[in-house]
Amino acid sequence: IANDGLLCYQLACYLKWQRSVEALNEKGEKVKGPYSITIIVQDINDNAPKFDQQKYHGVVRQNSRPGKPFMYVHATDRDDPTTPNGQLSYSILHHFPNPYNQMLFQIDNVTGAISTNEKGFRVLNPQKQENFLLVVTVKDLAGMSENALTSNTDVNITVKENLWKAPPRINIKENSTEPHPISITQVRWNEPGANYELMQRERLSRFPFIIDQNGTIYVTEPLDREEKELYSFFATAKDEEGKELDRPLPIIVLVEDINDNPPVCKNVLTIFEVQENEGLGSNIGTLHATDMDKEDTLNSRLQFRIVDQNPNIPIDNLFIIQQEAGTFQLSSSSLYKGLVSNYSLKVEVTDKVFTTLCDVKINVIDINDQIPIFEKSDYGNWTIPENTPIGEVILEIQATDADEPFTGSSQIIYQIEEGDQNKIFIIETDPKTNRGFVKINKVLDFEMSPAYNLTVKATNPEPLVDTVQYNSSSVAYFRVTVTDVNEAPVFSRNTYIGYVYENVPVGTLVMNVTANDPEGDKYTLKSDTRNWLRIDTSSGEIYIAAPLDWEEERAYIVQVTATEETKESQSSTAVLTLHIKDVNDNPPRLAKDNFLFFCHPLHGGERAEIVATDDDEQMYAPEFTFSLGDGENIKSTWEISRINGTHAYLSPKHTNLEEKYYSIPLIINDNGKPPLERNVNLQVKICRCSDDKRCFIEAEHHHGLPSTGMAVGILLGIVIFIGR
Ligand SMILES: *[C@@H]1O[C@H](CO)[C@@H](O)[C@H](O)[C@H]1NC(C)=O
Ligand SMILES: *[C@@H]1O[C@H](CO)[C@@H](O)[C@H](O)[C@H]1NC(C)=O
Ligand SMILES: *[C@@H]1O[C@H](CO)[C@@H](O)[C@H](O)[C@H]1NC(C)=O
Ligand SMILES: *[C@@H]1O[C@H](CO)[C@@H](O)[C@H](O)[C@H]1NC(C)=O
Ligand SMILES: *[C@@H]1O[C@H](CO)[C@@H](O)[C@H](O)[C@H]1NC(C)=O
Ligand SMILES: *[C@@H]1O[C@H](CO)[C@@H](O)[C@H](O)[C@H]1NC(C)=O
Repeated sequence: IANDGLLCYQLACYLKWQRSVEALNEKGEKVKGPYSITIIVQDINDNAPKFDQQKYHGVVRQNSRPGKPFMYVHATDRDDPTTPNGQLSYSILHHFPNPYNQMLFQIDNVTGAISTNEKGFRVLNPQKQENFLLVVTVKDLAGMSENALTSNTDVNITVKENLWKAPPRINIKENSTEPHPISITQVRWNEPGANYELMQRERLSRFPFIIDQNGTIYVTEPLDREEKELYSFFATAKDEEGKELDRPLPIIVLVEDINDNPPVCKNVLTIFEVQENEGLGSNIGTLHATDMDKEDTLNSRLQFRIVDQNPNIPIDNLFIIQQEAGTFQLSSSSLYKGLVSNYSLKVEVTDKVFTTLCDVKINVIDINDQIPIFEKSDYGNWTIPENTPIGEVILEIQATDADEPFTGSSQIIYQIEEGDQNKIFIIETDPKTNRGFVKINKVLDFEMSPAYNLTVKATNPEPLVDTVQYNSSSVAYFRVTVTDVNEAPVFSRNTYIGYVYENVPVGTLVMNVTANDPEGDKYTLKSDTRNWLRIDTSSGEIYIAAPLDWEEERAYIVQVTATEETKESQSSTAVLTLHIKDVNDNPPRLAKDNFLFFCHPLHGGERAEIVATDDDEQMYAPEFTFSLGDGENIKSTWEISRINGTHAYLSPKHTNLEEKYYSIPLIINDNGKPPLERNVNLQVKICRCSDDKRCFIEAEHHHGLPSTGMAVGILLGIVIFIGR
């Protein structure tokens, strides 16, 4: 018996016997032969595939993730599995009922895994249609031939409600006094045994929720709406390995307000002024108070009441307060400064649960019968450079008021009435002296507005008595001329950042840098060491001047200078960083010069690892595809199987390989745009091995290696993982 086994040639394998035949005479002496006879038994497709079960039954939950198998069908075929005769392909033949004229389920033609598709994911609903019957066909000849043998099976599918649903929003009253934790809601995975976890969405220093193994969610302590009104987080269900069974469910908890905050006076003491001649109903001012409870609810509705007036001379209840607004008014015209110069009031502010007392003082002041009068009506002409800083005082003005000092009747407010729509100037008053300081409020700009003609009016915060009116003595004028300053150019930014692909054509506009300078600039580039860029001296547009190379420079940094055309000394500089983005210009290659070998004789199941890499920038994990090139017997003898994006196995397809070197054309593609390809010849040795599975190579065949003589030979190479 010699060389029995499988013979494979061009995708087909045959059972093979080899025998020797000799012709003997009567005495048993050989007269002819030996002749060698090879008998090959070839598989034909004479067995139909058969399903393991006549009927299948499966359960799918509504909204089950598309493509996630919920059941499998399986069939076997007695024909040779290494030939198409034994290769099976599954498909769905009928789909009953078919309410959408579109399948809701899909089957993996190789594994028989049944799952919902996108449509099924969206529309399956046990309330509408609970049961489906799929007729699933299995074909041999890999499903590729019309001559394939087939068989069918019925698959009954029951659609069940998906229990994994987000609960409705949960409302919890704040500041609860009940014992915690308190159960607030529950989530439930479709089958028992899931592990539930809560996942925070915000990073809170304190996360007052927990979930137990029944999916019940608890709040662990009283909440405070004034601290945080809305909690939003996720509940997840995981299997024993910690993998999420489905998408996380959003849980939203709203903290409901209760009235647990007292009103607060805005000021410890609120002071108002009132002129002694003011009449009944006259508005004096408003007391402000706040409440931290939820606004626009009864919990923060505040009501005001005066509970004490001191002194109560000449009468009590001299003042009234608007109950809802807190605004004070005079209840009679009985104020005499000579009698009482000030009143102290206590105001009760209540939110119906809590009450706070606020202190108010009302000063009685002289009547405002004098107007402010300017010392002069024209303050003349003022010239200032346009770079005068904000806040600088450019002029002082003065008016006087003969009313009672340090009251609202004599205090002066200066306002620019005309000539300054953009509020370039502002006037502040010294409360002691009523002196006005005209200051720069915003950046001056000669180019926009070179001159101002300003009118200032002086008024009192207190109203004038009816018989007196402001007249032209309360008005003054001055003019401001702004002079031009030759500004240095100013770039709109200190640093500019650009992104270009390394293969961008020469002449491409990268970006436009401009400096702001009314006098006009010219632009130059500095430290363009590789001469990759060019700048348009008048527009500031930057162009590619030479081919870029990401492999040489990933961030190219140059300086852009803007210089004034008339005055060379005025210049400024900005930094441009050009990030160069890689394009796929390197084909993948083998990561190491693998010396691959397999031990002779082969037992089946051997495989050796191939690793590829790529010199381009790897934004994501690289995804290479490995395939065999063309060549005699290559594809019938060798097989490549993927491990991951960078690793693959090379394995012999059968065991009768000779003890020699094989050169195997291998193609490696990357997934760049455009994809690049590398052709390499893998040198694989089928060799005798030592006991510890190292390749035994005769020294004289291997130059450059120390020769230790024929008998010892050289053991080298990597240990190969033996599959079985
Ligand atoms: C099996 O499915 C794959 C993709 O899912 C498809 O490329 C292939 O053509 C299918 N084979 C048959 C025989 O339908
Ligand atoms: C979960 O539910 C079961 C049955 O209702 C109950 O016996 C068990 O105590 C619950 N577990 C927890 C942690 O609440
Ligand atoms: C809870 O309410 C009580 C009164 O009802 C109050 O004194 C306490 O400050 C409140 N706590 C919080 C955190 O708001
Ligand atoms: C307020 O009135 C009291 C007496 O009623 C008086 O002694 C005090 O000086 C007054 N204060 C002011 C600022 O007028
Ligand atoms: C400045 O304004 C005043 C009043 O608004 C006006 O009388 C005067 O002519 C103006 N002067 C100039 C130079 O515009
Ligand atoms: C403005 O009124 C005051 C008195 O209130 C008076 O002294 C002054 O002369 C008046 N000025 C003009 C310009 O009429």
